[in-house]
Amino acid sequence: MHFSKESIFTDARSHKKYHGNSLTEKELREIYELTKCAPSANNSCPLRMVFVNTPESMEMLALCAMDFNQEKTRTAGSAAILAYDLEFYKNFSKLAPHMKQPTPHFSWSEEQLDRYALANSNMQAGFFIAASRALGFDCGPLGGFYTNEVKDKFFKDTHWKFNCVVLLGSGDRSVLHPRGARLEFEEACRII
Ligand SMILES: Cc1cc2nc3c(=O)[nH]c(=O)nc-3n(C[C@H](O)[C@H](O)[C@H](O)COP(=O)(O)O)c2cc1C
Repeated sequence: MHFSKESIFTDARSHKKYHGNSLTEKELREIYELTKCAPSANNSCPLRMVFVNTPESMEMLALCAMDFNQEKTRTAGSAAILAYDLEFYKNFSKLAPHMKQPTPHFSWSEEQLDRYALANSNMQAGFFIAASRALGFDCGPLGGFYTNEVKDKFFKDTHWKFNCVVLLGSGDRSVLHPRGARLEFEEACRII
């Protein structure tokens, strides 16, 4: 494992070009085993993912990408499609048995469920990126995909909604632009 602040934060970048190697199933499982430790409201764990891990399935994914993301996707040997499950609340008897069952989420509107699931799956998505980096993999999140096409091709039979794609593997640092500016502490934070 590479648990340095450099490898997870300060040196880590959102890679756009990869050397094409795919991860093993063991490595994909290791990423999930760390990701699943992420906090989420009521331990709802709404994140779902499809690991895309063959040249054929990566090409299928590239065909769902907006034009500016197609080539980037084609350079990677592996990717995770991150999604969130609008029926996350059906797992509460396992994930939150201390709550009174059935939980109030069963009567929520689709808009309420969507907002809650997206917010919490984003929390888990951040952990997914940190987990991948901690295990030594470069990664790069990409939102620019045709969401209906992704759903249709990869998880049509579910109540999942597309969040983003994260390309995985070994990135080519030589093509990276210099890192973009970040807001300074004074611009983004307050201490009271
Ligand atoms: C949700 C999300 C969606 C993104 N979508 C795209 C995208 O469609 N195409 C792309 O090239 N980069 C995309 N990015 C990458 C960002 O541009 C990148 O993370 C940001 O510029 C910071 O770069 P750095 O991590 O190398 O400093 C996305 C990032 C996130 C978190």
